[in-house]
Amino acid sequence: MRVLVCGGAGYIGSNMTAVLVENGYETIVYDNLSKGHRKAVVDGAEFIHGDLADYDKLVETMTKYKIDAVMHFAALIEVGESMLDPLGFYYNNVSNTNNLLRAMEFCKVNRFVFSSSAAVYGMAQNKALQESSPKSPINSYGDSKLAVERMCHFQSQTGRLNYAAMRYFNACGAGNNCTLGEDHWPESHLIPLIIQAAMGKRDSIKIFGDDYPTPDGTCVRDYVHVEDLAQAHLLALEKLSSTTEQIYNLGNGKGYSVLEVIEAVKRVSGKDFKVVREKRRSGDPAFLTADSSKAQKELGWTPKVPDIDSIIESAWKWHNQNPDGYSD
Ligand code: UFG
Repeated sequence: MRVLVCGGAGYIGSNMTAVLVENGYETIVYDNLSKGHRKAVVDGAEFIHGDLADYDKLVETMTKYKIDAVMHFAALIEVGESMLDPLGFYYNNVSNTNNLLRAMEFCKVNRFVFSSSAAVYGMAQNKALQESSPKSPINSYGDSKLAVERMCHFQSQTGRLNYAAMRYFNACGAGNNCTLGEDHWPESHLIPLIIQAAMGKRDSIKIFGDDYPTPDGTCVRDYVHVEDLAQAHLLALEKLSSTTEQIYNLGNGKGYSVLEVIEAVKRVSGKDFKVVREKRRSGDPAFLTADSSKAQKELGWTPKVPDIDSIIESAWKWHNQNPDGYSD
C-alpha cells in the first residue's frame, strides 16, 4: 500500500512515517516544513516539500505516486495560540483539509486517517471520556478538529470516503529508539518545557493555574507515548478497506496533574529546578482523560509504554541527545 503522510516531518507524523516504513509501506511524506523538520523524516520515505493549500501539487503527488491512503497530521496544534488566532486555525486546519479531501476525491483515493484530538470534547468532568461523550470544544483548535470530523462524516455518507478519526490526548515521549522526539518552535508543551528546565536550558517551569477543581489544583491530562499513537493509526489504516467510519479515543486512561508530571521529570532526571505558579492559560480544560476501550477492543490496540516515568525517560534521552532539537 502507498501511503501519503501529510505533516510527516512533524512530531507525530514523523513517528508515524517511521512505523509505516518499518512495516513495509511505501511512504511519501508531504510537508511544508513550516513546523516540521526534514531531518525527522526517516530514510526509506520519499519527501515532497508541499503545502496543503496547493491543490494542484496534491493532485500531482497523489497521481504520480499512485497513492492508496492518506494519513493527515499537518495542523496548527497549540491551544493557547488558537485563542489568539482563530482565523489562522480554521484556515490551516479546516480549509486546507477540505483542499486535501477534494484532491483525494478527484484522485479517487478513499482511505483517510485523520489526526483529531481530545480537544473536541471541551470541558470534561473527572471521568474518562468516551467517544460518545458530549463534544463542545472550548478553544478554536478543538473546534477546527471537530469541523474536520464532521466534514469526513458527511463525505463518508456519499460512499466516496472511508475514514478514521483518532482523538488523542497528550502525545509525548520519543519513538523509533528515541531518535524521533518533540521539537516545536516556540515550545509550548508541558513535558519538553519541564525537561528543558531540568537540563538548565530555561530558568524555571511555569504552572498555568493552580486553582482548578482538581485534586492538587493543577490541570490533569492523559499522557500517551507517540509510538503507541502511531501503532493505533496503523491498525486503523489496516481496517479502513472494510469500514467506512471509525472514531477512537487514544490515551492510557490515567490522568496526571501538571505537578505530578513535574515530580516525574525530577524523578527520572535526578535534577531539581525552579517551579513558578502563574495564572491560568486561556482555553485549558481542567481534566482530560481517555476511555480507550473501544480502540483496544476494535483495533486490538494495547499501549506498550503506558507508564509516565518510561514515557518521560524516552523524552529525556532524546532531549539529551539532541539538546538543540533537530537544529534546522
Ligand atoms: N502547562 C503548564 N505550563 C507550561 C505548559 C503547559 O502548566 O509551561 C499546562 C497546560 O496549561 C495544560 C497542561 O500543562 O494544563 C498540558 O499542556 P500542553 O500545552 O502540553 O498540552 P495541551 O493539553 O494544552 O494540548 C495538547 C496538544 C493538543 C491536544 C491536547 C489534547 O497540544 O494538540 O493536548 O489533550 F489537543
